[in-house]
Amino acid sequence: MMEVQRKGPLCDDHRDGAGGGQAGEVVARVTSARWDEPVPADPDVTHPNVARMYDYLLGGGANFAVDREAADAAETAWPYLRQGARIQRAFLGRAVRCLAEQGVDQFLDLGSGIPTAGNVHEIALRHNPAARVAYVDYEPVAVQAARGMLGDDPRVSVTQADIREPDAVLSAPTVAGLIDFGRPVAVLAVGILHFLPDTDDPAGVLGVYRRTVEQIRPFLDGYRLVDPGLVLLPLWRPDYPVSDTHAAESNIYGAVGVL
Ligand SMILES: C[S@@+](CC[C@H](N)C(=O)[O-])C[C@H]1O[C@@H](n2cnc3c(N)ncnc32)[C@H](O)[C@@H]1O
Repeated sequence: MMEVQRKGPLCDDHRDGAGGGQAGEVVARVTSARWDEPVPADPDVTHPNVARMYDYLLGGGANFAVDREAADAAETAWPYLRQGARIQRAFLGRAVRCLAEQGVDQFLDLGSGIPTAGNVHEIALRHNPAARVAYVDYEPVAVQAARGMLGDDPRVSVTQADIREPDAVLSAPTVAGLIDFGRPVAVLAVGILHFLPDTDDPAGVLGVYRRTVEQIRPFLDGYRLVDPGLVLLPLWRPDYPVSDTHAAESNIYGAVGVL
């Protein structure tokens, strides 16, 4: 799932493979040689971990025997698994490129995983060197690998946190200090929602990350809204024809309420 807090024109359809390959293509690979970060002090290598399994399926080296065995078993049960992981990763790349081309320059990547080829920050920064990317994952190997890869680039941060605690994520200095939530932010939740069981209320969790018209609506409680209600400003009783694109680009909502 991928959400951007700003509507805009549809992304152009590029097929050059930059920022994401074609379906089934190997688009993500980290060799063991590149995995030169020390393993976290106490990784749990007795249980498979999804971040490391995913890394293995993508051809990476940040995984352990227990992860590889689990991934192999899963692949036996579902032979499409490896290809599916690569297709998903390729989608992420294409989607980020699409967003970057639309001018989105802030990304909050929830469940970012172990760094591999075509990372969000690489794509975003290629399009806009001033872009900001905040990675969030709770898996220590993923976090350490990301920190090691990124160094001290002030445009990118890595936060070890559970995305089911959005208030903690959003208030973390590495997120709050990097991302300006007063401006459009792409909230990426790719390959992660199926890890949140219904008992975790995944829709509610993601809802906290959204800063949309729904957050403005409570301020208007008790008012009778004049038609057309709370809308993007260009769409409020326009004096001339307004395209959806123009309206979305404003990214400003407004209403007239009567008590
Ligand atoms: C399948 S990987 C997807 C990685 C990346 N988003 C991508 O699409 O290439 C899922 C990632 O979500 C992380 N994850 C799962 N549940 C999480 C949670 N509650 N909080 C933070 N990270 C989580 C895992 O550690 C793993 O790195």
